[in-house]
Amino acid sequence: MAEYPNIIKSKLPKVGTTIFTVMSQLANEQNAINLSQGFPDFDSSTELSNLVTEAMNKGVNQYAPMAGLISLREQIAIKTEKLYGVNYHPESEITITAGATQAIYTAIAAMVHEGDEVIIFTPAYDCYEPAIELNGGKPVFVQMNAPDYSINWEQVKKLINQRTKMIIINTPHNPTGTVLSNEDMQALEKIVSDTDIVVISDEVYEHIIFDGEHHQSAARFPGLAERAFIISSFGKTFHNTGWKLGYCIAPKNLMVEFRKAHQFVVFCVNHPMQYALAEYIKKESNYLELSSFYQQKRDYFNSLIKDSRFEILPSKGTYFELLSYKNITNMADTEYAIELTKKHKVASIPVSVFYHQKLDEKVLRFCVAKKEETLLKAAEILSKV
Ligand SMILES: Cc1ncc(COP(=O)(O)O)c(C=O)c1O
Repeated sequence: MAEYPNIIKSKLPKVGTTIFTVMSQLANEQNAINLSQGFPDFDSSTELSNLVTEAMNKGVNQYAPMAGLISLREQIAIKTEKLYGVNYHPESEITITAGATQAIYTAIAAMVHEGDEVIIFTPAYDCYEPAIELNGGKPVFVQMNAPDYSINWEQVKKLINQRTKMIIINTPHNPTGTVLSNEDMQALEKIVSDTDIVVISDEVYEHIIFDGEHHQSAARFPGLAERAFIISSFGKTFHNTGWKLGYCIAPKNLMVEFRKAHQFVVFCVNHPMQYALAEYIKKESNYLELSSFYQQKRDYFNSLIKDSRFEILPSKGTYFELLSYKNITNMADTEYAIELTKKHKVASIPVSVFYHQKLDEKVLRFCVAKKEETLLKAAEILSKV
């Protein structure tokens, strides 16, 4: 098709194809084991798929209510109360979204005005920065570093000014597998008290937390909950990232604004799948057993590579494991990830891509949401590198 020249003034001039697409494509081309993109290589439950079919056969095939199916919102309220001890009203404080990505975009679109500053912690999941920029905001970065990727809250405090509108946190954290502690959350609570700062708490891995730790949801901290959009993803919890369903919980005044944007971003989301999730989520073992399920995978993978030349930066949550290769080569992490894929046939994600200034600390991210046989094959290769 012929293109009309000079028609575009890009709103996202720095954004190209995401690294996840690039590495997954390379993994396919190279017939490599794909531990790059974060999705399971096993299926979600047939019970859940059967419930979707049941809903479709029953005629649940038209638009869902704008905020989501009330039976699903009620179950989310019950789960949130049970786990975090707080009550969100299903009518006015819970909205079902097309995955966490849409929830994050919508919360930013609803809150951020031209010139507002939004603090994000890098390395960061890649959807925050473009969503801020598309809405006229200015991302302000706080850097976390290997090996522990802790947050310097004193530095955060110094960055707060009249223009600071929002702080985005993510726990358990992609890509590092770290979790925020009770002390971290209290430090943030103190920083935002007596300000108009809104918080997005990206908690998509809330049910994947290891070694007996408890997930410190923003919901548990009154000074955060009163100003937070808390976002979760069914895709991460029920092994069906392709369904793109998630939810947002927030106090009513925030949710009113969220829904104003939500109804024009997407209006409503997949109806039969909401019906199925509303049933499936009733059985709490369906999400409470997730931590031990993934801890086993983490431990299995790590036990297989413990004598390799890679250094394990132990993951405390999520289904990602970071490996440092600083004892192997000095190559840039982007180049080394490509070499590992092409020469050794294991694909990973270089952590520098999650930093806005592409900081290279010689660390790669591997997704362990894979069958044992996949992890075994990958670990055997990595042990020989
Ligand atoms: C930290 C984080 N937030 C949000 C998302 C997006 O979740 P969803 O697939 O439900 O849009 C992901 C997916 O990888 C993630 O890792």
